[in-house]
Amino acid sequence: MNIVAVNGINLAYARHGKGTPLMLVHGFPLDSSSWNEIIPFLKDEFDIIIPDLRGFGQSTTIESPYTILDMADDLAGLLDHLGIDKIAIAGHSMGGYVALAFAKKYPQRMLGLGLISSQAAADAPEGKERRYKTAADVAENGVAVVADAMSPKLSADARVQKFVCGVIEQQSKSAVIGALKAMAAREDMMAFIAQLTLPFILIHGDADQLIPIDRAKEIKAALPSAKLLELNGAGHMPMMEFPKETAAGVRALLG
Ligand code: MLT
Repeated sequence: MNIVAVNGINLAYARHGKGTPLMLVHGFPLDSSSWNEIIPFLKDEFDIIIPDLRGFGQSTTIESPYTILDMADDLAGLLDHLGIDKIAIAGHSMGGYVALAFAKKYPQRMLGLGLISSQAAADAPEGKERRYKTAADVAENGVAVVADAMSPKLSADARVQKFVCGVIEQQSKSAVIGALKAMAAREDMMAFIAQLTLPFILIHGDADQLIPIDRAKEIKAALPSAKLLELNGAGHMPMMEFPKETAAGVRALLG
């Protein structure tokens, strides 16, 4: 991983391949390793930038509160450092929230937007409440609380579950708490989505237990020009469960 200083943190990122700039943004509470299995399917066509969002993986953090928009600003700082003006961004789940915030603030930098197992609506009040309770639970009992609760819901595939559980256990309490609070406070992006004109693809598993595929269908209904790739049998981790098909979806974004 490479490290760059942006916005008062050290942001870690990996870079693979050659071609059109493409950023892959991981979900909660994971890190850049989420994308390991998709890289071989994309590296011949894309200059792939894969950050660890603030606090996760090898990136450092500052104490919360910070926002999803702060995370998007970190990515803008990374692109400035790399001298990349325009890029396609595909975000997985929480990474999709960050990608949406980036697209809203920096529309002139976007070549295309992909949401993988993500959504555009904000949390309902009870969802926000659940996140604050989980944050308090993590503060008291550590990240194992989240690893145990989330791993079985991320995928039905035992290999994927084991991998993600190991990744979650490596994350710091402060990153997990900071991201939970940032997600709870995130802006509703449905109105923003409805007026998008840039290339846009939704990639979603029909067996996603964390964010149901109906969330992607709602976005497609609000913006009929969006492409929707439904992955039969995929859970919340399609880039690991169906890397080849997920890569084809990412490629279709700009195709
Ligand atoms: C994720 O996978 O990033 C999270 O499940 C997203 C969320 O909790 O909203």
